[in-house]
Order: sequence, then structure tokens, then C-alpha cells
Amino acid sequence: MRGAGIADAVIMETVMAEPVYEPLAFAWREPADMLRRAQDFRALMARRRTVRDFDNRAVPREIIAEAVRTAALAPSGANQQPWTFACVSDPAVKARIRVAAEEEEKAFYAGRAGAEWLDALSHLGTGWQKLFLETAPWLIAVFGQRHGVAADGRRTKHYYVPESVGIATGFLIAALHNAGLATLTHTPSPMGFLNEICGRPESEKAYVLVVAGFPARDCRVPKIAKKALDDVSVWL
Ligand SMILES: Cc1cc2nc3c(=O)[nH]c(=O)nc-3n(C[C@H](O)[C@H](O)[C@H](O)COP(=O)(O)O)c2cc1C
Repeated sequence: MRGAGIADAVIMETVMAEPVYEPLAFAWREPADMLRRAQDFRALMARRRTVRDFDNRAVPREIIAEAVRTAALAPSGANQQPWTFACVSDPAVKARIRVAAEEEEKAFYAGRAGAEWLDALSHLGTGWQKLFLETAPWLIAVFGQRHGVAADGRRTKHYYVPESVGIATGFLIAALHNAGLATLTHTPSPMGFLNEICGRPESEKAYVLVVAGFPARDCRVPKIAKKALDDVSVWL
């Protein structure tokens, strides 16, 4: 298939184009090798933790760009790739994001969240102050595109946007972690302010703010447990 952009893909869809195929580049492996790789990957991912205390050490832009390229490889409804990653390293922009996020979070922790939600968060020790939004070298605001725009300016429907953005964000977090960076999945609530600060149109909705960088030297994280296989799966 030629290098189709989003607009091309939309047009192809609306004219009911014939599918074009290419050979699948699939790596066939022996079961023992597959198991070892699966175990190695789990061990890698087991070392990922949400970090809320960052060092201000710089991270080269190309590392972030590679992680975003990986995120953009995620599957998406009808391959519409309905996402925009706003990558922020400018201290002035980060400061604006911190001010706006803390304003929302102050109201959230002061009661807007409700007692049940605050109770669910209590073991994490989080609060309204978000110093990391300025300390961490990178903030990646992940936007979902509620709809697309065809070459002729027409609105086109996007399918499964939250699901697609969630999967792409998972790819992003895994890619950043694999590169040797710490991340925080942050969801200041609500986060409409990110549209204005990041210059994104109304048609896009901010889903998550991924904070990326190095952990502070003395970084500590909440001691938590993950559910076991039996608790998260059924086998039929
Ligand atoms: C959708 C989503 C939203 C989250 N929002 C926040 C947040 O706003 N602030 C925060 O400190 N952590 C946030 N987290 C991080 C979770 O608290 C964290 O993933 C959880 O406690 C498990 O810890 P771990 O990531 O170290 O395994 C969020 C995580 C997810 C998946």
C-alpha cells in the first residue's frame, strides 16, 4: 500500500477503494524462544512504575520522538490514527500547564472529586501540587481527534477514538520505559485547558498528560501490589 496519509485514508474509505495487500513481515519463533521473550518483556514491564518525583535532567528530543513514533504504530479503528501528541519541553509552556492543572486539582482535592474517589487515591499520597509538571523535561499531551477532516474540508467520522488513543498511550508509555525513562500518567480533571495551551482545535480532546524524564535520585513510589493472573483472567 502506498504511504497513505489520514486524508488519503478517509478518501479511500468513502470511495470504497479495493484493498491493496502486501506480504506480512512476521518473525516465526520456536515456542521456547517465544516464552523467554514473553518472560523478558514481562520483567521489563514489571520495572515500570508511575513516578511523581522527577529530576530536571534533560532528555534528548529524539528519544521522545522515537517513543511517539512507536505510539503512532498502534492499531486504531479503521486505521484512522485519531491522535495528536503535543510534546512540550519549553519551560514557559510547562509552567502554564502547571498553573492550569493545579487550579483544577485544587478544586478536585478540595471536594469536587467526592469522598469515594479521594478515598481510592489516598494510598498514593497524591495532592493538588504538581511540581513535576515543571521539573520533568517532557510533557506529552495525548489528544484524541473526535472527527477527521477530508481533503475537501468535510468532517469525517472517527471510530473507536478512546480505545485507539488508550492503546497508543500504552505503546507510548512502554516505549518511554523501554528507552530508560520514567513516566507519570497524569489526568488533571478536567483538562480542557490543554487545548488552548497546546494550540489544539476544539475537535480534539485531551485524554492524558504523559510526564517523562528521569526519576529524582531519592525517588520513592507507593508500595502497591498487582493482581495475579488468576485474578485478572478467565480461561475457557
Ligand atoms: C488513566 C490513568 C489516569 C491516571 N491519573 C493519574 C493522576 O492524575 N495523577 C497521578 O498521580 N497518577 C495517575 N495515574 C497513575 C496511577 O495512580 C498508577 O498507574 C497506579 O497507582 C498504579 O501504579 P503504577 O503505575 O506504579 O503501577 C493514572 C493512571 C491511569 C492509567
